[in-house]
Amino acid sequence: MKRIGMLTSGGDCQALNAAMRGVVKSLSYSGEPVEIYGFLEGYKGLIYGNFRMLTGADFSGILTKGGTILGSSRTPFKLMREPDENGLDKVEAMKQNYYKLRLDCLVILGGNGTHKTANMLREEGLNVVTLPKTIDNDLWGTDMTFGFQSAVNIATDCIDCIHTTAASHGRVFIVEVMGHKVGYLTLNAGMAGGADIILIPEIPYDIKKVVEAINKRSERGSKFTILAVAEGAISKEDAALSKKEYKKKMADYKYPSVSYEIAEKIQKKTGLDVRVTVPGHTQRGGSPCPYDRVFASRLGAQAGRMILNGEYGFMVGYRNREIVKVPLEDVAGKLKMVEPDSDIIQEAKLLGISFGD
Ligand code: F6P
Repeated sequence: MKRIGMLTSGGDCQALNAAMRGVVKSLSYSGEPVEIYGFLEGYKGLIYGNFRMLTGADFSGILTKGGTILGSSRTPFKLMREPDENGLDKVEAMKQNYYKLRLDCLVILGGNGTHKTANMLREEGLNVVTLPKTIDNDLWGTDMTFGFQSAVNIATDCIDCIHTTAASHGRVFIVEVMGHKVGYLTLNAGMAGGADIILIPEIPYDIKKVVEAINKRSERGSKFTILAVAEGAISKEDAALSKKEYKKKMADYKYPSVSYEIAEKIQKKTGLDVRVTVPGHTQRGGSPCPYDRVFASRLGAQAGRMILNGEYGFMVGYRNREIVKVPLEDVAGKLKMVEPDSDIIQEAKLLGISFGD
């Protein structure tokens, strides 16, 4: 008998359910009796002992379902060691609930913050297996995270729709894509949608270069320009500020997001009509694309196999086309970012895409 605790933490994404289904299906088909304790709303459920016993029926019909049947929440890693408002030691509470339920392991699905806490629980002596989710694809140790391809599809659809209206009106359009620190989603959706300019956090932009790229298109007779801009796109001047100076700038920031600041600058410098579209959380919604369904199911199946073998302390990752075990201590606290001199950036530049650098 295996007693497994499961939770989904951090921002949700597509294919969380598909991944959990994969774990449970592979365990069930092995013939090993299992008990699944589903902790609700992320680590909060584990801290406060809020769980639901799940059966095979709970995992039936959820392969195609977005969101997470367990609910999710953000419990920042930096607050984990701070007692809650009632003085409860959260780490001790998680350990106590784990031991009280006599769990064999925890299956934790999450992104960067989630992995820091998962690794801490491993250091505290709990058996942990994790699965890499996030639309940002910024998790270190895996070439791919589930949710990413589905989000690329949605952001690309958005850019596709903008294309026709941009062409009719001869406007400049900015599509703001999710990703505060890392630009994989913007880069991929931008290239897939045929954006002319792509601005990502890893490549600080010079507004003069952005304007130059727009003007060049106008000179060549293009009536419109489309920019794919990451939420976390940053100008060269802002990137040069100290943390303190940048914090001060953001405290007085008058724009709803960076795209509006960029739009205003473009409008002033070119006299062109500029519009901003923010697909926002639609990028995390809806059903997972086929790639994510297959990918998350594969990861889940491998997690099940690892549990049966008693292999704990790993994230199930994907590297060089193979599913691999990545030690949690290697994953925790690291970000995988777009390399400014990577092949894909060079190739995008060969296609004439400007990064504003
Ligand atoms: O989960 C990743 C992500 O969607 C980022 O791309 C985005 O910046 C952030 O979460 C949004 O977080 P929240 O849902 O808490 O607003």
